[in-house]
Amino acid sequence: MSLPTRVSIVEVGPRDGLQNEKQVLSVEDKVSLVNLLSDTGLQRIEAGSFVSPKWVPQMANSGDVFKQLHKKPGVRYAALTPNIKGLEAALEAGVDEVAIFGAASESFSQKNINCSISESLDRFEPVIAMAKAHHIPVRGYVSCVMGCPYEGHITPDAVAQVAKTLYDMGCYEISLGDTIGTGTPGATSALLDEVLKHLPVNVTAAHFHDTYGQALVNLYTALTYGVATIDSAISGLGGCPYAKGASGNVATEDVVYMLNGMAISSGVHMDKLLDTARFVQDLLGRPPISKVATALLNQ
Ligand code: HMG
Ligand code: MG
Repeated sequence: MSLPTRVSIVEVGPRDGLQNEKQVLSVEDKVSLVNLLSDTGLQRIEAGSFVSPKWVPQMANSGDVFKQLHKKPGVRYAALTPNIKGLEAALEAGVDEVAIFGAASESFSQKNINCSISESLDRFEPVIAMAKAHHIPVRGYVSCVMGCPYEGHITPDAVAQVAKTLYDMGCYEISLGDTIGTGTPGATSALLDEVLKHLPVNVTAAHFHDTYGQALVNLYTALTYGVATIDSAISGLGGCPYAKGASGNVATEDVVYMLNGMAISSGVHMDKLLDTARFVQDLLGRPPISKVATALLNQ
């Protein structure tokens, strides 16, 4: 077991979190949120997505968010772009990085992006080519890596195939999404035993939702494999509109608390995260769902 000494956190709250909120937040509020996150020490923030506004209305104002946010030097601001139309809008808005998102489950692929896995991979090819031509790095997501809301069990082999294909196509990093948070340490081990036969560990990221309260222990399991990139969302915001019951992403403050306790550096300041969690609480009119913010904000 060799734990990493440093972990890079990818904050996905403004995208994965807010895409699942009933209310659509204003550009101004989203910009304030992203700016607060930029001051916490986070160096990677997924600030929006360029998807169909009919499918995900919550993200329709992403272009203006990117144009108005205060870009902090050293912070990379990323967005989801499922197709060329999305990529063009993202480039116009000045994103630093884009992400394409595939799935290891056929049914989820259909529900989420309206095409099969193999059609999605064909569709991603020109997106990667155009992003590269603009010197924009492309991240690849694989959803449903430890279960699908429509198909149930997903084999690690199915995940590994999509992950390897996205990597071979030119994604510099592959984020493994436990979209519905059904994974356990056993499933995480089985997943990584297979996926890491095909992907270098230093390009592999863990994107775990906390629906069943397993995200931290699953992340700990991933750390023991050497995975050193973790996706999380401030206040445990999150979910996916096409995955019923997918509650929040693991909370950034919970991850940072765990990493601090293990002397693994992330460069993220807990006090600033808590200020941001308080801002989210006021914005959404409800307390954070994370354990750490609940404990520390009420002291
Ligand atoms: P489609 O309907 O098959 O696409 O949707 P289409 O090409 O036939 O276009 C239909 C309409 O959408 C047209 O408009 C297009 O212009 C428009 P109309 O002529 O009807 O007025 N359109 C767009 N508009 C804005 N931006 C675009 C865009 N593309 C088409 N980029 C599509 C296919 C992929 C677009 C759609 O299914 C979609 O937007 N899906 C997004 C779903 C989504 O955002 N899901 C959540 C993110 S994934 C996630 O949360 C999982 C993750 O967190 C990891 C994990 O947890 O596992 C990443
Ligand atoms: Mg997600």
